[in-house]
Amino acid sequence: MWCLELLIPLLLIINANCQWNIWLPRDISAMTNSCVVIPCSFMYPSGIRPARGVHGIWYFGQPYPQLFPPVVFKSLTDVVHESYKGRTKLLGDLNQRNCTLLIGNVGTEHSGRYYFRADIGGANKYSYPDYAELKVLDQPNIDIPEEIVSDESLELTCYAPDNCPDMTPEIQWMYTDYLPDPVFSAEYTEESNTAVISNTLTFTPRPMHNGQLLGCRVYFPNTTLVYERLISLDVKYSPRSVWVNVSSEVMEGSSVTLHCEVDSNPSPRVAWLFEGQEVLWDTASNISISLDDVTPENEGIYTCVGDNGYGMMNTSLYLAVKYPPREPVVNDSMTVVQGSSLALHCNTMGSPAPTLTWLKDGELAGSITAGELSVLEIMDITPQQTGQYRCLAENEHGRTSASLNITVEYAPVFLEESKCTVVREGVQCVCVAVGNPEPTIEFYLPDLNITINETDGRFNFYTHTDGHTSTAMIKLREKGERADNNGPAVNVHCSMYNIYGRESVLLELQQEKKYMMAVIVGTIGGVAVIAFIIAAVRYVGQNNKKENGNPRQDVVLENPALYYSAVKKDKQNLRKKVGEDGDYQPVGSVAGLERQELNYASLEFIGARPREGASGRGDDGSNYTEIKAK
Ligand SMILES: *[C@@H]1O[C@H](CO)[C@@H](O)[C@H](O)[C@H]1NC(C)=O
Ligand SMILES: *[C@@H]1O[C@H](CO)[C@@H](O)[C@H](O)[C@H]1NC(C)=O
Ligand SMILES: *[C@@H]1O[C@H](CO)[C@@H](O)[C@H](O)[C@H]1NC(C)=O
Ligand SMILES: *[C@@H]1O[C@H](CO)[C@@H](O)[C@H](O)[C@H]1NC(C)=O
Ligand SMILES: *[C@@H]1O[C@H](CO)[C@@H](O)[C@H](O)[C@H]1NC(C)=O
Ligand SMILES: *[C@@H]1O[C@H](CO)[C@@H](O)[C@H](O)[C@H]1NC(C)=O
Ligand SMILES: *[C@@H]1O[C@H](CO)[C@@H](O)[C@H](O)[C@H]1NC(C)=O
Ligand SMILES: *[C@@H]1O[C@H](CO)[C@@H](O)[C@H](O)[C@H]1NC(C)=O
Ligand SMILES: *[C@@H]1O[C@H](CO)[C@@H](O)[C@H](O)[C@H]1NC(C)=O
Repeated sequence: MWCLELLIPLLLIINANCQWNIWLPRDISAMTNSCVVIPCSFMYPSGIRPARGVHGIWYFGQPYPQLFPPVVFKSLTDVVHESYKGRTKLLGDLNQRNCTLLIGNVGTEHSGRYYFRADIGGANKYSYPDYAELKVLDQPNIDIPEEIVSDESLELTCYAPDNCPDMTPEIQWMYTDYLPDPVFSAEYTEESNTAVISNTLTFTPRPMHNGQLLGCRVYFPNTTLVYERLISLDVKYSPRSVWVNVSSEVMEGSSVTLHCEVDSNPSPRVAWLFEGQEVLWDTASNISISLDDVTPENEGIYTCVGDNGYGMMNTSLYLAVKYPPREPVVNDSMTVVQGSSLALHCNTMGSPAPTLTWLKDGELAGSITAGELSVLEIMDITPQQTGQYRCLAENEHGRTSASLNITVEYAPVFLEESKCTVVREGVQCVCVAVGNPEPTIEFYLPDLNITINETDGRFNFYTHTDGHTSTAMIKLREKGERADNNGPAVNVHCSMYNIYGRESVLLELQQEKKYMMAVIVGTIGGVAVIAFIIAAVRYVGQNNKKENGNPRQDVVLENPALYYSAVKKDKQNLRKKVGEDGDYQPVGSVAGLERQELNYASLEFIGARPREGASGRGDDGSNYTEIKAK
């Protein structure tokens, strides 16, 4: 009856015969220096009648006395193991089959298994194999989830055993001031006659809480017993910031280090990408990429990507590589025909974008542009646009240029200097033309049906070309006639040509008043002068006859060198003007033309004709003065 009464409420195996049985908590815990009560009830076969009352022994570690386990408590005597002296007390009444044991002032050395042995009397002694395992804790337990993830609600529970009747622990969370909206909930749970109190802290951790300390403090009020446990939060979070250098500029040829730091937990797989292509990676919180001797090819977007399985993030920077302009590429030198239109291209590269300037023979041509291509358009090109075209590229790091030459070709153009002039002995005709290629000049005398060109050695034909200017001259003398007031009747055509065209003009005969004046002045000038002139003319005439030796010819082509020789005898200073060698200087460039005109001057002088202060010929003026004095 007794037996059944007890069994049924405990829901244990119903054994009508009530065999040896014990009920105690398998696990029980206590804080160090506090106490613990191990609740215990036991049964023995109902047939046994205890003679001298029921006794019992609590052993530590082993249930069997043969193995001499430490005695925790013994009801017959108070002989207990040293480490339990004064600490243990049986709270239960063995006669009531209540073996509840109190252990006071427990230490960690008391952790272990506790066995009960009943002694009903005589041979009825029995060691129950079941045991209560005591854990003596010097700090509270905290339940921490295996993984704490940022931004996900987190529950941390701190536990403390509450198995000491005189003292009830309390739990406090520590270092929670910085937590966002922490919620605390205390709980009391009892199971198998053992009690545990707990306090659950609920909050949502952020990346900033990674590595921060949290603590649980268990204490028994009105005692000095305090137990603390500190934990460091390991909050996993996806990369929340990827720091890279700000976009920067570097000079070509220099070295640069790009640094990336990723804030994440755990450390990410961090990689540098250049223009989308991965160039370097590591599993670390930071990664640096070093570029030595950077080139413009290194310019572009660098992206650092951090990925730690909880998420990924990237940040980019732009690396600009500065360099002086490259030597421009321009068109090749070219030869074009007047009137063509061209587009000259100048290509370069530089950073920052260079300014491109087109210069023609050093002078600005066209507009200044910024960029890598400048096109100079030339419409309807003229001969004056022949020249050297230079494209100048410059930026703050340097300047460079490239040039090309443009040559414009054009049909001959007749210049106004072309004319026939009456000189004392006849007519001198000069024909000047420009053209590219330089024109070829011929004279045509329609009255005589003669064409005179440079290959025709019979005539006093002088030609000279300088650059694109061609000058040709012939001298004609009408046989037996002096140029007089009426003037000679000359009909001279000048014909000039190159591959682009031919032009013919009738050379105008300049019947200058100057010439008439010269005759008058010469007459007044004096017999000596006239005599000299006559002598000179005779001399010239003789020479001409010798050279030309063709008396039948109606027109005698004279050699100006002879005229010059005549003058040379009389006027030494004039010689210097004409040339040291005293020879006739071929008609040529502008300078040559002037020389030729000096020869005219000498001829005119022969004709005793004064000059009317022709510009730039002051020296000639003084010559006249001298002559007049003669
Ligand atoms: C055993 O004794 C303890 C202490 O006196 C008491 O608290 C407990 O209720 C008893 N157990 C039973 C089953 O009577
Ligand atoms: C602690 O002691 C004070 C008086 O000293 C008492 O008022 C209080 O109830 C005690 N608290 C506990 C939990 O025993
Ligand atoms: C990038 O940052 C790192 C670390 O701050 C520095 O050593 C490096 O010189 C920086 N690079 C550039 C290009 O600014
Ligand atoms: C970069 O990472 C290495 C290891 O991954 C670490 O030792 C070092 O301190 C880090 N440097 C910085 C500036 O974070
Ligand atoms: C960088 O992040 C943006 C979104 O933030 C994403 O669209 C892009 O694909 C990422 N780039 C790389 C290289 O991961
Ligand atoms: C100059 O070169 C550019 C490109 O090379 C070309 O398009 C252009 O026609 C050239 N100009 C001339 C006048 O040849
Ligand atoms: C252009 O002509 C000049 C002489 O007039 C010469 O020195 C230069 O080399 C020429 N340039 C090119 C590109 O042919
Ligand atoms: C001019 O002379 C050429 C030969 O030199 C001759 O063929 C041509 O018929 C002549 N013309 C005239 C108009 O006399
Ligand atoms: C000069 O004229 C002659 C015929 O009068 C001709 O054969 C020769 O080719 C001409 N020379 C030139 C350079 O035109």
